[in-house]
Amino acid sequence: MSASDIAVFAICEAESIPPGGAKAFSLSRLMADGEARPFRIVVVRVRPRQFVGYVNSCPHGKVWLNIGDGTFFTQDKSQLRCGRHGARFDIASGLCVEGPCAGASLEPIPLALMGADVCVCGIPLVEDEDGRGYDEHDETMEIMIHPG
Ligand code: FES
Repeated sequence: MSASDIAVFAICEAESIPPGGAKAFSLSRLMADGEARPFRIVVVRVRPRQFVGYVNSCPHGKVWLNIGDGTFFTQDKSQLRCGRHGARFDIASGLCVEGPCAGASLEPIPLALMGADVCVCGIPLVEDEDGRGYDEHDETMEIMIHPG
């Protein structure tokens, strides 16, 4: 394997996320033992051509950040926030700036913008038949809509 063989998986078209918006993805990560594990992430479009990604798991209770009402942001959209106990996170760094896990950080996901696609880099994902590392169907959203 050469350096150019770093795993890169397109997860969505950049234009599918509005500037200032966020989108959850339920991916499948290929582990070293060959097993596939659920891998839920959130991608935030910080600027028109700038995206940040995090594992969609609050450092406090390990729940999806958008649990509850389905939103990722504080009301003024200046920070990410957890729907369970209200922890607030800096969007650019993932650092929890307020809440029960203050000082902890969201786990960052290396992303790259390649052509029209947002790609996850260096993390092996299970691809669908179209060769994409994602599933358009987002089960975190579905479970949020039908809690319990
Ligand atoms: S689970 Fe996120 S703040 Fe408690």
